[in-house]
Amino acid sequence: MNIDLKNKRVLVTGGNSGIGAAIAKAFATEGARVAINYLANPEEANRLVEEFTGAGGQALGLMADVSDPKAVETIFGTIDDAWDGIDILVNNAGIDGKYALGWDADADVWGQVIDINLKGTYLCAREALKRMVVQRSGVVLNTSSVHEVIAWTGYSAYTASKAGISMMSKTLAQEAAPYGVRVLCIAPGAIRTPMNQAVWENARGYKDLLTKIPLGRIGEPEDVAKMAVILASDAACYITGTTVFVDGGMSDYPSFSHGG
Ligand code: BGC
Repeated sequence: MNIDLKNKRVLVTGGNSGIGAAIAKAFATEGARVAINYLANPEEANRLVEEFTGAGGQALGLMADVSDPKAVETIFGTIDDAWDGIDILVNNAGIDGKYALGWDADADVWGQVIDINLKGTYLCAREALKRMVVQRSGVVLNTSSVHEVIAWTGYSAYTASKAGISMMSKTLAQEAAPYGVRVLCIAPGAIRTPMNQAVWENARGYKDLLTKIPLGRIGEPEDVAKMAVILASDAACYITGTTVFVDGGMSDYPSFSHGG
């Protein structure tokens, strides 16, 4: 099986924490050149860059707000200057947003989730695809969520952004396929990251979470990273325009394991 990612030029947005950091590490381990985009916590981005270069690889740390078109153009320009293009984009940057019932939510706070998660994913995909269709190869891997199909009270902006990412990806996949470029989504379930730490660190929250996961454990960032590497590699050369769930069965409606 061909998982050869040696020297591939990879950008991971939000690559300095949680799932993004695990994905960046997994690509670096496979010998890829990895650009880590980040917005906050530059120390961690720098630490990862040093870790990858110290191990003999090539890496870049690139600060940018993915919802800002100019900032996104700038980081892609920097990657062009360093590596003369891009082979793999992993759109991972995102936020859950603040819990609020739909009728209580502040419109600006609601819109910020859409701006970062959906528009940010689009803006990065746009820059990547401009380059990939010309070189007639490349993969755009967008991070959606189990919440592209599962409703989540208090998080209407988040669920809308993830469902939007899914449909946008299918459309971009249709557009890019004739050029040999794949676009697809990876959908994590509950993964042990800083984003949902308040839930898995709390005994009651954790117990409730486990009732939602048939495989009986919370996911680790590496569970997602392994699949990201496979989906971006030629092992997945016939997969595009779809979502692969990495969720321990969370999207398999576990509440239907009895009754109904
Ligand atoms: C969210 C997590 C949540 C998980 C399962 C993810 O998309 O970011 O906070 O725990 O879905 O509900």
